[in-house]
Amino acid sequence: MKFFIDTANLDQIREAQDLGILDGVTTNPSLMAKEGITGEQNVINHYKAICEIVDGDVSAEVIATDYEGMIAEGMKLADLHENIVVKIPMIKDGIKALKYFSDKGIKTNCTLVFSAGQALLAAKAGATYVSPFIGRLDDISTNGLQLIEQIRLIYDNYAFETEILAASVRHTMHVIECAEIGADVMTGPLSAITGLLKHPLTDSGLAQFLADHAKSAAANK
Ligand code: E4P
Repeated sequence: MKFFIDTANLDQIREAQDLGILDGVTTNPSLMAKEGITGEQNVINHYKAICEIVDGDVSAEVIATDYEGMIAEGMKLADLHENIVVKIPMIKDGIKALKYFSDKGIKTNCTLVFSAGQALLAAKAGATYVSPFIGRLDDISTNGLQLIEQIRLIYDNYAFETEILAASVRHTMHVIECAEIGADVMTGPLSAITGLLKHPLTDSGLAQFLADHAKSAAANK
């Protein structure tokens, strides 16, 4: 399973990259705004900065919601760097835009997916990635992971090449369960990635090993 980090924060992207296990980055307009990145040129510069840190797919979302606008914006974004993936919302014109970019060989990420039917449409349109938002479904008492299972089944039935990008991952259990189900990618905050490191038995075991080593080293002096 590929690990993407879901942030526009350059320090967090660097920290995840330094671990050596980062495969890409997803951003969205809210995440850009959270970092105070506003204005077209600043947004463009920020995407370039992210692409310089990570050697992997970087999702950059269009703001336009009409077909022509999405094509114009998406082409501009795709031109920024070879790793840019044009992120398109799951709306009617978005499906048409996904097909356009897919025919042109430009990578896409279909975002704001909340149902199996939407995921089926995205795959039919040739999306590179489909992003079901599991955390936001959990937020409204709907099982987000069940949606990943459903999409996995449908895509496997027909050998769709669209990769399932489990999005809106909130914590380590989401990551583990996505891996069990067979999501191709997960995107989540840095805490969901680094949280996987933690186990109290690792900490106590290491402390014991180091203490025993120090004792025997002192005895052999
Ligand atoms: C995905 O690409 C989105 O940026 C993201 O995962 C949304 O997550 P949230 O529901 O935590 O905002």
